[in-house]
Amino acid sequence: MHTTVGIIGAGPAGLLLARLLHRAGIDSVVLESRDRDYVEQRQRAGILEQATVDALRAAGAGGRLDAEGIPHDGIELRHGGRATRIDFPGLTGGRRVWVYAQTEVVKDLVALQLAEGGPLHFEAEVTAVHGADTDRPTIRYTHQGRERILSCDYVVGCDGFHGVTRQAVPAAERRTHERVYPYSWLGILADAPPVYDELIYAHSERGFALASMRSPSVSRLYLQVPNGTDPADWPDERIWDELDARLALRDTAGARLHRGPVTQKSVLPMRSSVTEPMRWGRVFLAGDAAHIVPPTGAKGLNLAAADVIVLARAFAHHRATGSTELLDAYSDTCLRRVWRAEHFSYFMTTTLHTDPGQSGFETRLQLSQLDRIADSRHAATELAENYTGLPLDPV
Ligand code: APR
Ligand code: PHB
Repeated sequence: MHTTVGIIGAGPAGLLLARLLHRAGIDSVVLESRDRDYVEQRQRAGILEQATVDALRAAGAGGRLDAEGIPHDGIELRHGGRATRIDFPGLTGGRRVWVYAQTEVVKDLVALQLAEGGPLHFEAEVTAVHGADTDRPTIRYTHQGRERILSCDYVVGCDGFHGVTRQAVPAAERRTHERVYPYSWLGILADAPPVYDELIYAHSERGFALASMRSPSVSRLYLQVPNGTDPADWPDERIWDELDARLALRDTAGARLHRGPVTQKSVLPMRSSVTEPMRWGRVFLAGDAAHIVPPTGAKGLNLAAADVIVLARAFAHHRATGSTELLDAYSDTCLRRVWRAEHFSYFMTTTLHTDPGQSGFETRLQLSQLDRIADSRHAATELAENYTGLPLDPV
């Protein structure tokens, strides 16, 4: 079997790439190790930048997003019992973000690809990629109990942080830069209306908390917890009480979250990691396969989308002109944005969380930085520009 672009992984990166290539008339095959249900139910963040929304629309996946996605024009930061609204359009010349869950993005893209795209095989586990530096790289995988080989013009590893494609880049040429944080997030989904119509990011003496949402009747909430925390140690009432304590404001001490049945509970570790280069020969890495960020800046999905937008454009340029110029520039083009997002995610994470070994001095620095964002239009603009994302050229 042969295809132009062999795509490993059907997360948002692999699926969006397959859709953008289909639109450009370039054939691809997507191989995904998990089953459809697993891929569609996996809980991740749900904030989409303008460029991600534009790409989903261009890929034909804008229908439900436009009907059900909730545009957000700001976030609220809380620290020291004080609330600060960051006004995105006012600070960035009109940019905003959308709340639309990654599970829904994935469902929309899977449905489209199965209806009118190239092959998308679930339960097809890739074991190795060979020949990155040849004209015919191959993907070895198992599907329906049989070993198979897919020969490709190009291979794109969209196989996430634990994927195998990275290994196609020779170890001597591959560099991974990484930071592991000394805390995790306990996340819940609850059938309860959000307490506020925007997201709330809270610094508190008790640790970080985030109030997000999935819809007008479903809340998504997070608490900073120690690494290794067992969700079973956090009964629902304890979570609600802790969220209320961390989100408390000086002036409205009585305001409380709306409580409701908790339908999902899990602990997420926090890590920053970048693998360079993002291309070796005819093998490309995109999304979490190349880089991950802690979720505090809501950048993971948007970075994955930005990679495949750049890559789809490079493939289309190659198809139209025969030039490999944009394919050759892929790694450098993406890494500029990746490192900006890595810095922003690190900044949001380390400014809002309390490190277990943190001194009073370090806490005062955090509070001073948060005061600065609250009091200075320049500092707030810096946050708003990063949060809403660097603009990409239109697709
Ligand atoms: N063979 C086939 N598929 C694989 C293999 C393999 N050996 N290894 C991993 N996969 C699949 C995974 O099952 C998963 O469905 O690759 C897919 C990778 O998807 P994601 O982890 O969602 O990564 P990506 O598409 O880059 O999306 C990034 O996910 O982690 C979040 O915050 C991050 O929102 C961001 C998004
Ligand atoms: C989420 O809704 O899951 C979410 C929102 C913002 C973040 C992280 C997660 O920064």
